[in-house]
Amino acid sequence: MPEPRRIACIAGARPNFMKIAPLVRVMEASELLDATIIHTGQHYDRNMSDVFLAELGIPKPAFNLGVGSGPQGVQTGQIMVRFEEVFGSLDPALVLVVGDVNSTIACALVSKKHQVPVAHVEAGLRSFDREMPEEVNRVLTDQLSDLLFTTEESAEENLRAEGIDPERIHFTGNTMIDTLAHMLPAIEAADPAGKLGVSRPYGVMTFHRPSNVDHPNTLRAIVDFILRESERIPIVFPAHPRTRRQLERFGCMGELLHAQRVTVVDPMSYVEFMALVKRCRFVITDSGGIQEETTWLGIPCLTHRRTTERPITVTMGTNTLLRDGFDEAASLVTSILEGTYKTGQRPPLWDGRCAERVVPILEKFFGNG
Ligand code: UD1
Repeated sequence: MPEPRRIACIAGARPNFMKIAPLVRVMEASELLDATIIHTGQHYDRNMSDVFLAELGIPKPAFNLGVGSGPQGVQTGQIMVRFEEVFGSLDPALVLVVGDVNSTIACALVSKKHQVPVAHVEAGLRSFDREMPEEVNRVLTDQLSDLLFTTEESAEENLRAEGIDPERIHFTGNTMIDTLAHMLPAIEAADPAGKLGVSRPYGVMTFHRPSNVDHPNTLRAIVDFILRESERIPIVFPAHPRTRRQLERFGCMGELLHAQRVTVVDPMSYVEFMALVKRCRFVITDSGGIQEETTWLGIPCLTHRRTTERPITVTMGTNTLLRDGFDEAASLVTSILEGTYKTGQRPPLWDGRCAERVVPILEKFFGNG
């Protein structure tokens, strides 16, 4: 039996943990692969990081690079410097990156400079908006990757259009949905809204993108919308640290905290947040992953962004892009409350078994399996 090949699995920011968890679990059952986790430390607050590792049963990372926050270039550069420092002792056979955060591109780049192959899980998604740091990360990571695992058909079309060899592309489904399916019993057992004293029906809001929370006018429009809608339905608002800071900076936090039917809370654990979503009437968000999770759960999702890199959530799922702002959102909320909003379907291969398709492809990559 050959020595198992070491697969360095990179996670750094909150949305990465649920994407690597099922891959690590399936790799643990493989005799051919050895999953070693590297936490870049891009997210470091307990409730943005450690809580997720514990809840999802992710083994302790072999290294935590402890990079923390910083401007785009500084953060990306710091991850590269620190990953390079441990790369020699890690000696991976392959580096596996997920999603589109700064940790994704930084570790892919270091790996390729060491001539070590890269696998990208959630490849090929495109918003075609290069003002988003995530879009830059996606395009560059895909160009560097030897294996590209996709979640929806649009991704393969995008990759082919960018000249990626189709032989490297594998449509395997969605590992974040693997986690959601796997954790469903725990999610169904939790009732965070009840614990907060919020009764059903209620809506959920999350915002954290710079395009929404870094501009006072946009943030003001979001706050006005929440305050207005809360007259119709209570709103629970788990606030990302960046969002909380900006709300305070632009003087909007007081109003939200005083609003009778708005409940502002700290970021929740994975199980608690998904339980909050599963029992809500709708979500308004600018997140990437929540668009997919709501589609799978059949919960209406209104996404306050000009574009989505996950078009299947709109064409097949429960997601609507709020291109024309909050007037449109108010009428969509009306249709949700009246029960006339679209219902949607689960996209192909979002069946909870993506990691079981990815791992044999990794094994085969090394001439086994
Ligand atoms: C990052 C990802 C984004 C993802 C999001 C999920 C990039 C370019 N962006 O954005 O795609 O949707 O994670 O949350 O990688 N902060 C804390 N504690 C933490 C982490 C962040 O207080 O544990 C605060 C800091 O003030 C920091 C700010 O949040 O400056 C932004 O954090 P950062 O990692 O730069 O990006 P996110 O906005 O979280």
